[in-house]
Amino acid sequence: MKTIFITGGAGFIGSHVVRRFVLQHPEFRIVNIDKLTYAGNLANLKDIENKENYIFKKGDINDTVFIQKLFEKYRPEGLIHLAAESHVDRSISSPLDFVMTNVVGTVNLLNIAKENSSSSFRFYHVSTDEVYGELGKDGYFTETTKYDPHSPYSASKASSDHFVRAYHDTYGLDVVLSNCSNNYGAHQFPEKLIPLAIHNIQNNKSIPIYGDGANIRDWLWVEDHAHAIEEVYFKGKTRETYNIGGHNEWTNLDLMHLLCSLMDEKLNRPSGSSKKLITFVKDRAGHDVRYAIDASKIEKELGWKPSLQFKEGLSKTIDWYLGNPKWMKAVTSGDYQHYYKKMYEE
Ligand code: NAD
Ligand code: DAU
Repeated sequence: MKTIFITGGAGFIGSHVVRRFVLQHPEFRIVNIDKLTYAGNLANLKDIENKENYIFKKGDINDTVFIQKLFEKYRPEGLIHLAAESHVDRSISSPLDFVMTNVVGTVNLLNIAKENSSSSFRFYHVSTDEVYGELGKDGYFTETTKYDPHSPYSASKASSDHFVRAYHDTYGLDVVLSNCSNNYGAHQFPEKLIPLAIHNIQNNKSIPIYGDGANIRDWLWVEDHAHAIEEVYFKGKTRETYNIGGHNEWTNLDLMHLLCSLMDEKLNRPSGSSKKLITFVKDRAGHDVRYAIDASKIEKELGWKPSLQFKEGLSKTIDWYLGNPKWMKAVTSGDYQHYYKKMYEE
């Protein structure tokens, strides 16, 4: 059986990618490699954890011996790399953690792959639109937009993107990349705007909006991203990157207004009550004004486009969080980590 490694598969996007590959590709053994940081949660994969073509390996992408042994054991035909520190605010308070995982960890994987894989091995780096910096009122990020990262997070992802291409140019490794906009959906850690707001509204706590709420993000349903990743892995051209986005721009404030009105309906609260929880707070340092993706390349070349309208996706997302109070309780109390840490402790 051929093997694909997926790193960061216990996280938000990774769990949707692992599920998609395990269910759609029974011909592959999927090995999920994840350190289970605060953002990794194996409850995200409960429904597929007993599938025959799924294996979980707990470990750090910086652990050379551990990763090397996995390469020797499984001889993977490819690796889809999602493991990362992913939250911009945390990168502002702890930038070195981002360098260690996103830069050094990625180079460690590249190095081991270069030494321990066949010529057909493919290394896929899942990256972000934040490497391009920020846009003004007009225009879109294309695949040729110059890199101009502003936060320690985006600088670390830009750096790892460069290393990935350098390993192709210098050592001939088959690499492919994608740069995606903001994802939303089930399993997202409630430090990120949408799940944080859902959780706070449910608990009648304030919704913190950075600055004046005019910053713009382009939102994509996470399962559409997982589908795009599948297309890029199998059909993407070597050394190319594919921009992935939802054609779906919202100011943070407009997005919160929509979310609040959906929450009022779903919680049977008087119209306008959730909106009252919106609180303007100090702006994020280096807060990028606007992101927007031109996704025409992946659409034209690989035939991918988003499947869901935003309002429908947001409504489904709220339903998931409201329908899974145990998930949210475990995540916010930290219980999810104790349970799984014990189970996989060496
Ligand atoms: P996440 O924070 O939810 O999950 C990250 C996962 O990586 C966790 O399971 C964590 O345990 C694991 N991990 C972290 N450090 C590790 C290490 N040293 N070794 C092994 N595993 C480790 O992140 P996410 O939002 O799912 O993002 C996944 C990837 O997609 C990241 O590379 C991110 O840069 C990229 N991305 C995210 C978005 C988004 O909107 N969330 C958009 C574009 C690109
Ligand atoms: O664009 C892709 C990126 O999207 C990914 O690469 C990152 O991993 C992912 O975390 C996300 O980054 P953002 O910083 O855009 O996501 P976040 O949910 O943290 O914030 C979305 C917007 O909302 C941003 O403009 C900051 C703002 N915000 C965020 C939080 C957490 C608030 O106003 N209040 C908040 O409490």
